[in-house]
Amino acid sequence: MSTRHFLTLLDFSRTELQQVLDRAIVLKKMHYDGVIYEPLKNKVLGMIFEKSSTRTRVSFEAGMTQFGGSAIFLSPRDTQLGRGEPVEDAARVISRMVDVVMIRTFGHDIIERFAEYSRVPVINALTDQHHPCQLLADLQTFIEHRGALAGKTFAWIGDGNNMCNSYIHAAHIFDFQLKIACPYGFEPDPELLEKYARNVELVKTAEDAARGAHSIATDVWTSMGQESEQSIRKRRFSMYQINPRLMDMASSDALFMHCLPAHRGEEISEDMLDDSRSVVWDEAENRLHAQKALLEFLVVGPDGVKRQ
Ligand code: CP
Ligand code: NVA
Repeated sequence: MSTRHFLTLLDFSRTELQQVLDRAIVLKKMHYDGVIYEPLKNKVLGMIFEKSSTRTRVSFEAGMTQFGGSAIFLSPRDTQLGRGEPVEDAARVISRMVDVVMIRTFGHDIIERFAEYSRVPVINALTDQHHPCQLLADLQTFIEHRGALAGKTFAWIGDGNNMCNSYIHAAHIFDFQLKIACPYGFEPDPELLEKYARNVELVKTAEDAARGAHSIATDVWTSMGQESEQSIRKRRFSMYQINPRLMDMASSDALFMHCLPAHRGEEISEDMLDDSRSVVWDEAENRLHAQKALLEFLVVGPDGVKRQ
């Protein structure tokens, strides 16, 4: 069988994703109960970071340690990748030495090229186009707080960025409705909007998206790599801030999510993270549990996961 990768949510079937999410909840409980479970003993994760990270790095590294394995942090500053070694060569070499690789980079084509030449599973830890690991955590968080995803309405308010694209995939796979509100010119990939129109609707205002939603999510207005656009983005996005008043327009049991890091006073009001509807700290924690479930699935295999 060919090597499985996790470059977007579409690399897994709905059943497989559900299996990973269910497993994440079980692994979380085992962790809380102090159970020592080391399915990746002596296994090594290579972590290539071409952009900054707090949550992704800590969750993958802690997850590998808890699973009895280890992780190697690789930055372009200290590797030959930063001096022009082709990604295809790096993939062939690194994947002969480790058991699984995680990459955070710029263009999605970089991770696709790496995966094509890798002998071992490759996990997308964020590209300019997608952030599927964050979606695992968001979906787990919603399920833990509110149950099944199908038939629910989610809102994405802000930039039509990597997170938004992954939310579109999730809406399609899990059959929930996604209302997206972005300033003109900052909409998500039009191909995705067209392809998944059954589950995804582009609306004009933040209020249109928020009305009746069971979950509202946003993200920074300026993603990594877009720093030169910061001041124009601040002006263009000013009507798209999430605050308790906007949340009041949502369903009475609505949750607020943000992948973090957050900028208080920009995409969220000063008080939004502390609002009773905010589940951002659970969401951040779930990066650990969801990615452990993903690592187990990719390295031990789905059958191994079923047996445990
Ligand atoms: N949400 C997220 O991916 O956070 P980091 O950039 O800190 O990894
Ligand atoms: N859209 C943000 C997500 C950070 C976790 C970025 O790409 O910088």
